Amino acid sequence: MNTAADVDKKELIEADRKHIWHHLTAHKPLEEKDPMVIVKGKGLRVWDANGKEHIDAVSGAVWTVNVGYGRESIANAVRDQLVDMCYFAGSAGNIPGIKFAERLISKMPGMSRVYYSNSGSEANEKGYKIVRQIAAKNGGKKHKILFRDRDYHGTTITALSSSGQIERKAQYGPFTPGFVEVPHCCQYRCQFDDETDYGVKAALEIEKVILREGPETVGSIVLEPVTAGGGVITPPEGYWETVQEICKKYDVLLHIDEVVCGLGRTGKWFGYQHYGIKPDIVTMAKGLASGYAAISCTVTTEAVFDKFKESDDPMGYFRDISTFGGCAAGPAAALENMRIIEEENLLDNVTEMGEYLLEKLRGLQNKYKVVGDVRGKGLFCGMELVLDRKSKEPAPESMLAAIAADCMEQGVIIGRTNRSLDGLNNTVCLSPALICTADDLDQIVEAIDNAMSRHAII
Ligand SMILES: Cc1ncc(COP(=O)(O)O)c(C=O)c1O
Repeated sequence: MNTAADVDKKELIEADRKHIWHHLTAHKPLEEKDPMVIVKGKGLRVWDANGKEHIDAVSGAVWTVNVGYGRESIANAVRDQLVDMCYFAGSAGNIPGIKFAERLISKMPGMSRVYYSNSGSEANEKGYKIVRQIAAKNGGKKHKILFRDRDYHGTTITALSSSGQIERKAQYGPFTPGFVEVPHCCQYRCQFDDETDYGVKAALEIEKVILREGPETVGSIVLEPVTAGGGVITPPEGYWETVQEICKKYDVLLHIDEVVCGLGRTGKWFGYQHYGIKPDIVTMAKGLASGYAAISCTVTTEAVFDKFKESDDPMGYFRDISTFGGCAAGPAAALENMRIIEEENLLDNVTEMGEYLLEKLRGLQNKYKVVGDVRGKGLFCGMELVLDRKSKEPAPESMLAAIAADCMEQGVIIGRTNRSLDGLNNTVCLSPALICTADDLDQIVEAIDNAMSRHAII
């Protein structure tokens, strides 16, 4: 296939090997094998520098390219915007920023204000700074922020401080003080002797932490609606209702991290909308513009925003800035991305294809003893692999690595929990673009089936 980067492939790969520090990558093996260089994308498929075609079952490896590759209308919207007005700091408004905020809020009843920045980590940090500043206005009360075991909220030191993934945090401490962990809600890994009412019990663990820390010290809790990189954890029944009650009871702001689930991944605009929750702060990034431009948003209620208007204090307004939060390409891309999701009825496709994918994965569960649990919401699905269904001993990371490498050989890119959780990096993750068809999913699952027949027999 001819590509925009139709340069000497060998030179390209050598220059990459020489100069690129790849994300999340151990580089020693790249002395022996070629680094992967992606040069072209269309729909669900990408091509590497050697011309090999891959089906991307994880939307750009990290669940981002929601509407698929090669969307000319998004590229055109970005181009036109950049020619008109590329950038001005976020202390001023700009046309796509205003229009997108309006459209976004129309999908989020109860929410009101949009603050732009340009990564999920940064959007979450804004959420934390909002909580800290409200606390400062109240003499330091309610400055603590709770986060949950197995959730991830980003890569900066403070976002990592609020992440419940031990292996992601390893070697990066000391961490920012004032972040306190609450237990996970993965029913398959139930922490109690009795699984009855698991969801309510798991949520009540949060109350215990609030009481232990002192409700007067706890300002907010940040939670993923469906835990993504921590093992595709769908919330158990009764969980969110109880979380919401607890937040109300102790006046704790509910911050929902929609960086992965936002903009359709689970079949609704936002993951939290499946559970009848009323958040105070919602953060989003990845699928917001499907990776066509860098953009993230921290969205709040008017009540939260009002706290920054109330006082005469010259230091009372939100004294935060994100240079590239003023880049107009992001909201221009996001506007067109949202239009595509609506016009192509992609939310319905996610619901239908998500159920189809789960069914296919249950088929693998019937076939292979190693599949302990299958879970997911919309087009974010996972399979937890275990060496023994009774003891639930996790399959080793090496088995998942072998399955993923085998799929890659077959031209299918899949995901997996990867050096995130101590001893629990045993979940295969799938999150294809929202445009996927049953035929695409058949091809993806067939490749996994082939790989499992070679690497997952126990
Ligand atoms: C739930 C969640 N929040 C936040 C982030 C951080 O986003 P970013 O990498 O854009 O900073 C991620 C990234 O994977 C994520 O999965």
